[in-house]
Amino acid sequence: MNNISIPTNNWNTALYEDKHAFVWRYGEDLLTLLNPQPGEDILDLGCGTGQLTEKIANSGAVVRGIDYAAEMIEKARQNYPQLRFDVADATNFQVEQPLDAVFSNAVLHWVKPAADAIACVHQALKPGGRFVAEFGGKGNVQAIATALENALDAIAIPEPQALNPWYFPSIGEYATLLEQQGFDVIHSNLFSRPTPLAGEEAGIANWIQMFASPFLVELSAEQQKQVIRAVEEQLKPTLYRQGNWTADYRRIRIVAIKL
Ligand code: BEZ
Repeated sequence: MNNISIPTNNWNTALYEDKHAFVWRYGEDLLTLLNPQPGEDILDLGCGTGQLTEKIANSGAVVRGIDYAAEMIEKARQNYPQLRFDVADATNFQVEQPLDAVFSNAVLHWVKPAADAIACVHQALKPGGRFVAEFGGKGNVQAIATALENALDAIAIPEPQALNPWYFPSIGEYATLLEQQGFDVIHSNLFSRPTPLAGEEAGIANWIQMFASPFLVELSAEQQKQVIRAVEEQLKPTLYRQGNWTADYRRIRIVAIKL
């Protein structure tokens, strides 16, 4: 596995499936845009533990899931042994036959070399094949990222912005990259989707531990607790209501056709 393009996260797949099921529940809506047809060859890029891959397979399409995290692929294989899952890098994967569609939910914000991923998707598709993706767009989790950077600054961690692992492009930026590589962008949308977090009072701490660990990786256990407490304090007035946390998600959705 190549970790150059995607920061290392320690994925706890049990916690991911238990407390963060919203990742694929919201993604179900994206399947309507994909509109998979029986017999189509489809790749699920960044399949996680396989829930949406299975839904695509239920349409009668021939689907394969890939993910850079070996622990996600291991769990996906346990969940759906009848389906094919492989460890692969979004910026460096190969397919055996050109595909009808590449689908991707909630993963491309981890891929900073976006042009490399788009080139890979392009080479994987048939002419006329479609790329249907949703991920964090411009302004996504802005309040959480700012609070994390402030908290790291407060304990004298140099350049906390450099620890930020995410890529949240605007429509203009991403559509330009797609067009430059031979795609026709036929649908794009950037929208706010405030996302309730499971775990009540612990919701934001759970989310940070699952999804923002690159910010904390250099810290001692005590410093990590201190940073999480400081983030909670900063965000309480805006993202906490009546015992529950909401994350300030903004999604970008695109459908692009290979010319
Ligand atoms: C997202 O789905 O937008 C997201 C998930 C984890 C980290 C950052 C963003």
